[in-house]
This record gives sequence, C-alpha cells and structure tokens, in this order.
Amino acid sequence: MTGGEWEAGTKAAALDLHGSHIVIGQPLDRAGATAIREAIAGRRAAIITDTNVAPLHAAPLADRLGVDADAILTITAGEGSKTRDEWARLTDSLLARGYGRDSVIIAVGGGVVGDLAGFVAATYMRGIAVIQVPTTLLAMVDAAVGGKTGVDAAAGKNLIGAFHRPILVVADPATLATLPDVQFRNGLGEALKHALITSAAELRWLVDRAPLLAAGEARPVALLADLVERNIRIKTDIVARDERESGPRKMLNFGHTIGHAVESVSGYSLLHGECVGIGMRAEAMIAAKLGLASPVLAGQITGALGTLGLPLRPPHRLDPMAVGAATRSDKKARAGVIEYALLADIGVPANGGHAYGTPVPERVAREAIADL
Ligand SMILES: NC(=O)c1ccc[n+]([C@@H]2O[C@H](COP(=O)([O-])OP(=O)(O)OC[C@H]3O[C@@H](n4cnc5c(N)ncnc54)[C@H](O)[C@@H]3O)[C@@H](O)[C@H]2O)c1
Ligand SMILES: [Zn+2]
Repeated sequence: MTGGEWEAGTKAAALDLHGSHIVIGQPLDRAGATAIREAIAGRRAAIITDTNVAPLHAAPLADRLGVDADAILTITAGEGSKTRDEWARLTDSLLARGYGRDSVIIAVGGGVVGDLAGFVAATYMRGIAVIQVPTTLLAMVDAAVGGKTGVDAAAGKNLIGAFHRPILVVADPATLATLPDVQFRNGLGEALKHALITSAAELRWLVDRAPLLAAGEARPVALLADLVERNIRIKTDIVARDERESGPRKMLNFGHTIGHAVESVSGYSLLHGECVGIGMRAEAMIAAKLGLASPVLAGQITGALGTLGLPLRPPHRLDPMAVGAATRSDKKARAGVIEYALLADIGVPANGGHAYGTPVPERVAREAIADL
C-alpha cells in the first residue's frame, strides 16, 4: 500500500460516539480493512472517493474489500464538487446500479468526499449506512467525526445538509504520507483549535511536536496516530455532550466566525485551517478588546501559529469593512447579532454573560482585522 511505514509500537485506539465506532491507527491494508468488512456485514457497498485519492487509497481498499471497480464512484477533487449537482449525479448512479435500502456507502477521502458522501447516504432512500475513511489530517481530526454532512450552495458553504452518523470511522494515519504539506498544515489549524479550547497541557503537547510534524513524509506514523487520537477524543467528548450544537459544541467554532469571513473575502485563496488560525488570533484580540481575555492569550496563539508554520495574517491586507460585513453571513447569527465562541484563556470559554456565544459588535471585529 501507499503510505507511511508502520513502526512497531504504533498504538491503535477505538472509541464510540452515539453509536459510531471509531478506529484509529489500524492500517487500512490489515486490521482497518477487517473492521470495514465486518461493518459492511454482507451488505452491498459503494465507495465514493475523489480523483486524487482513488488511485492512492480507494482502489487498493476496494481490492481488499472485494468491492468491484464499477462500485467506485469518483468525484473531481476539490471543494467545487461539494454541490447539489454532484449529489444528484451520485444518487442517480446508485439508483442506476440498483442499490437498495440495505446498502452501505464507504467515503474514502478528505472532508469534501466525507461531507458529500455522508449527505448522499443521509438522503438515499431516506438514509443508508455510511462508513467514513478519512485520508486528510483535517478529515481525521474534524470532518469525519460528529455526523455533520452536507453540500455548498451559491449563498454559502455547507448550507444544505443533514446530521448523519457514520456506523464506523477508520482513520489510518499512514495514508497521510501522500498528503501535500499544505494540506497537512490545513489540518494542524483545526488541531491547534482543539488544543486551545482544551488545556495548556494539550497546547504544549502539540507545539512541542511541531518539528516532528513538519518532517513531511518522514513524520512518524506513531506520532500521527497519537495526534489523531487526541483530537478525535477532544472532539468526541464535546460532541457527546451536545450533538446538535446548542451549548458546549459551539466552542468548536472558536476562530471560525472571523475565519470564515477571511476565507470568503480572500476568495478562498487560503485553506480553511489557515483561516481558522488567523481567525483564532483575531478572536483572541477581540476578547482582549472586550475585556474578556488578557492580551497574553493572543500572544500565545501567535506563538503557536508561528511554531506550527501557520500564517498569522492573510498575505494581502483585507479590507476590515469587507471582513466585518462577511461575518454577518455566518450561520451563528442570532436575531441579527453575531455570536462568537471566544476564549477567556486556554481551555476556558469566555462567557461574557452568555453560555458559549458572546455577541461581538462589528466595529470591534473590524478593529481586530485592522490590527492583524
Ligand atoms: N462535517 C464536518 O464536521 C466538517 C468539519 C470540518 C470541515 N468539513 C469540510 O471538509 C472539507 C475540507 O476537507 P479537506 O481539507 O479534507 O479537503 P479535501 O477533501 O478537498 O482534501 C484536500 C485535498 O487533498 C487531497 N487528498 C485527500 N487525501 C489525500 C491523501 N491521503 N493523499 C493525497 N491527497 C489527498 C484531495 O483530493 C484534495 O485535493 C470542507 O468542505 C469543509 O466544509 C466538514
Ligand atoms: Zn473548521
């Protein structure tokens, strides 16, 4: 198989979230495939993947599972495929091939494949089983876990979707060996967010390992397995307490209100994880301006971003007015006021008198953007 070398001592972990079984650190060419075969349990399976991942990981996995080539449905790699058109094409393909209600979709790829294939599974014949096999760091630490699926619309990203839990998630960190470095750093942005909303110890663990994580293809698989496991535990702990995002799960949006705005105003020229990093820095500056956090927090975030090789600001100055206006299209607006998931300190939500969302005047957001 293509991928990093498995060293002796790489530990495997398994956990459960709302009925989803999550297997971390089992090689896809051995125990990982066995777990998938058992979850399929004789049902008819289709694999959904993209043009990059198909030859690298999906086709070899199909071979091992005995899924024939005709049952591999491939989308063009990239966010541009996360559309209702592509959803229609995939569901039509399944119908044309006679897939029934008792079928299972195996999503092999990054968050785009996971979200789209998950939405196909959520809606096909009112819902069929999905198995998530994430192959990007972002998908392993974030997208594949938690049950959110969906597609983009002209009006914005992820606006059409459903909650649909996978029956199984298999994260094999060895698949990350083929991932371009920039995509790896994209996932590190979300990993940093998880550390920041958890504890100073978690942040230290991540930052201390930055040199090893920067080692490209030479990244130790055991370290990656550890990284993925820590992140999945953090996310599952939060989601287990709040599947539909009414309270604690909002903390997963730290950095995302400004992050999404920066992403859209920069014309999606920066990756999501990079924008979340910039967003976390800006939102820490906002918390300081509102008197909810010490300015030290923004400094700590700046230091961590630098150590992990993530950008501190967009490469071109963005108009604070435009970024401020873009925050208004965030889904997290309630009655016209934008609520942010701010931190008071590492691991400590800023409540500002509210449970997990703090209303932020747009003027303050614009000031923080200008200060970046
Ligand atoms: N559902 C959720 O909770 C959730 C959470 C976070 C993000 N997302 C979504 O995830 C998407 C982003 O996911 P992503 O960053 O994984 O992007 P992606 O799926 O586009 O993958 C990034 C690139 O890496 C390639 N790739 C994937 N695995 C590879 C591998 N092992 N080797 C070589 N190339 C590989 C892909 O073909 C693609 O070109 C966004 O659409 C976002 O909205 C969803
Ligand atoms: Zn995110």
